[in-house]
Amino acid sequence: MGNPRVRVVRRTLSMARHPRPSEEKPMSTPTKFLLDESRMPRHWYNIMADLPTPPAPPLHPGTLQPVGPDDLAPLFPMELILQEVSTEREIAIPEPVREVFKLWRPSPLVRAHRLEKMLGTPAKIYYKYEGVSPAGSHKPNTAIPQAWYNAQAGIRKLTTETGAGQWGSSLAFAGSLFDIDVQVFQVRVSYDQKPYRRALMETYGATCVASPSNLTNSGRAILAQNPDHPGSLGIAISEAVEIAATNDDTKYALGSVLNHVLMHQTIIGQEALLQLEMAGDDPDVIVGCTGGGSNFAGIAFPFIGQQLRGGGKTKQRRIVAVEPAACPSLTRGKFAYDFGDTAHLTPLTKMHTLGSTFTPPGFHAGGLRYHGMAPLVSHLKELNLIEATAYHQNACFEAGVMFARAEGIVPAPEANHAVKGAIVEALRCKAEGRSEVILFNLCGHGHFDMTAYMSYFAGKLTDQQYDEAELAMALSGLPSIPAGA
Ligand SMILES: Cc1ncc(COP(=O)(O)O)c(C=O)c1O
Repeated sequence: MGNPRVRVVRRTLSMARHPRPSEEKPMSTPTKFLLDESRMPRHWYNIMADLPTPPAPPLHPGTLQPVGPDDLAPLFPMELILQEVSTEREIAIPEPVREVFKLWRPSPLVRAHRLEKMLGTPAKIYYKYEGVSPAGSHKPNTAIPQAWYNAQAGIRKLTTETGAGQWGSSLAFAGSLFDIDVQVFQVRVSYDQKPYRRALMETYGATCVASPSNLTNSGRAILAQNPDHPGSLGIAISEAVEIAATNDDTKYALGSVLNHVLMHQTIIGQEALLQLEMAGDDPDVIVGCTGGGSNFAGIAFPFIGQQLRGGGKTKQRRIVAVEPAACPSLTRGKFAYDFGDTAHLTPLTKMHTLGSTFTPPGFHAGGLRYHGMAPLVSHLKELNLIEATAYHQNACFEAGVMFARAEGIVPAPEANHAVKGAIVEALRCKAEGRSEVILFNLCGHGHFDMTAYMSYFAGKLTDQQYDEAELAMALSGLPSIPAGA
């Protein structure tokens, strides 16, 4: 009886059997590993200091020369520009920012005892839970410092884009703390799917506009071609950048991709290092989902840094990035210079890209619908320091439902990709009889994403293939950069 999707999930769950209460043995090891506020990291970790070779520099699209601080000044305050190009290993987290972080940080590290039992795996699974932040994900880890540095520079207006709505609500929250007006361009498909995310942004005092919109030249140009365009992160970035670049009193904030954004997220991995030390474990595998790469970098970079500094004496871990099969920049993209946005207003960065004009299908992990990958994450992939894999959305929702029924937390659709990746690793350990330690980043909760779960249960989610012809066209339009530029 009932609908087919629920039956599929039940069948999968019956293969990975939940122990009955009478069989449940008391857990002999702790479940939560909590750090005292006083142990919250005092600096961000900058992986640039430890890389064997530096990543290719961003280029000015006009001159094809490396961009300098002055090129970025219309968009960002100088402190953030300096962080973007810094090679210092540690950058101090300002005390007022740490004070705000204390509202939810340090975030818990949890041993997923019940998921381990359900899967029957000898692996130990740990997850770092970032859904405890006010906005429900890792995004406030960078929204708070970005808003603070802007406020310090006297900025009172910020524009940004949002895919899932997580970043938009995080910057809206940060703006409310530092008296900054925030205007968010939300990708049309997610604007329509998630009215409560919009309401949350408005609750924090921000304004939220569906993108493409009529407020910008880039939005109007796209609407002229297709009035029902579903939008994309690349288009929403163009709109937000255009407003900031054409208004002296307005700057722009980006929720992922850039070096300083990834660095702000390293507080996650630094805490996890301390918490795993408390647990007496060291991860063999680290898993994170990747949209623009920030939560993945946040959990992974501090561990990769340890390896890079260890000169081969530190444990070499596998670091696995999980991306959506419908927007697979790391696994199917080209490593090339490309624009970060659709209207070509940003500098050119060398990254794994599907082409800046590529519009991914409208699947439910809106935060992962981006054509490119962070240059630093792309560089690590080229150095073979990380692996990448891709899954379709139904497999990820199935993993998320399994996780919810074992651990109680309903993950965000983006985070379901990391859950799926962790479960695949745990089942591999079961097949190989290995008791490895798996750490994954549960980067956000899905409380505003229940429509997506309802579609999943109703069997209405399709595993959409991206259009191969569109991908080929988008890749053929990559800018040509002369060798040595
Ligand atoms: C919960 C969640 N996870 C992941 C992402 C993807 O971004 P990133 O790869 O920068 O972590 C988003 C983006 O909006 C998100 O909201």
